[in-house]
Amino acid sequence: MIIAIDGPAASGKSTVAKAVARRLGIRHLDTGAMYRAVTWLALHEGVATDDEVALAGLARTHPVEFDYADGASIATAVRIGTHDVTAAVRFPEVDAAVSAVSAVAGVRAALVERQRELAGAQDTVAEGRDIGTVVFPSAKVKVYLTASAEERARRRKLDLAAQGHAVEQDEVQARLERRDTYDSTRAISPLEAAADATLLDTTGLSVEQVVDAIVALSRAAL
Ligand code: DC
Repeated sequence: MIIAIDGPAASGKSTVAKAVARRLGIRHLDTGAMYRAVTWLALHEGVATDDEVALAGLARTHPVEFDYADGASIATAVRIGTHDVTAAVRFPEVDAAVSAVSAVAGVRAALVERQRELAGAQDTVAEGRDIGTVVFPSAKVKVYLTASAEERARRRKLDLAAQGHAVEQDEVQARLERRDTYDSTRAISPLEAAADATLLDTTGLSVEQVVDAIVALSRAAL
């Protein structure tokens, strides 16, 4: 069974998707980390983020791998080619370039194929932007998470503070809104809710409440 969780940046997808996977005892797949891994590789290899042919080539020839301990829901590492990029995929330079890289058709084609390979073989909670619309349109459970821009900026600011980065909330919100606009207006697989997705506005809800709601939907779909 595939549980598809889509939504904009900082909507709580990762926290919620991981908790749902743990509760159901199935795998979590972070597809954003895959776009980030290709972006990191492009920066590392000096490939320009507008060189579509070279970017698609990198994505095709360097499969993204996740390491899972036996029976574990959450990956302990992300690798691309011979590089362990677990920490690097969160670097600010990757943040800044990932929207451009993820808008490239050839990159998306390679990664969607890889996502189907990784999640097709076993029950998975897959999170991203196009899981319910493009990657797994027949997923049994589809959830689209939203939260107000203020709430998302507040959460992202707390995350950044926990990593030792002090940033103004206004600046965080402006950056999130810029990335959302880019991700929702790109020509290929834009960020949008599938017509049959359950919309969950998480503003004012606890993580526990959101996880409970998705676990209930998933159990009902079994
Ligand atoms: O979820 P995230 O912030 O780690 O995603 C990073 C970027 O990757 C995001 O700006 C949009 C892109 N992305 C995508 O286009 N499709 C996905 N399925 C997942 C992420």
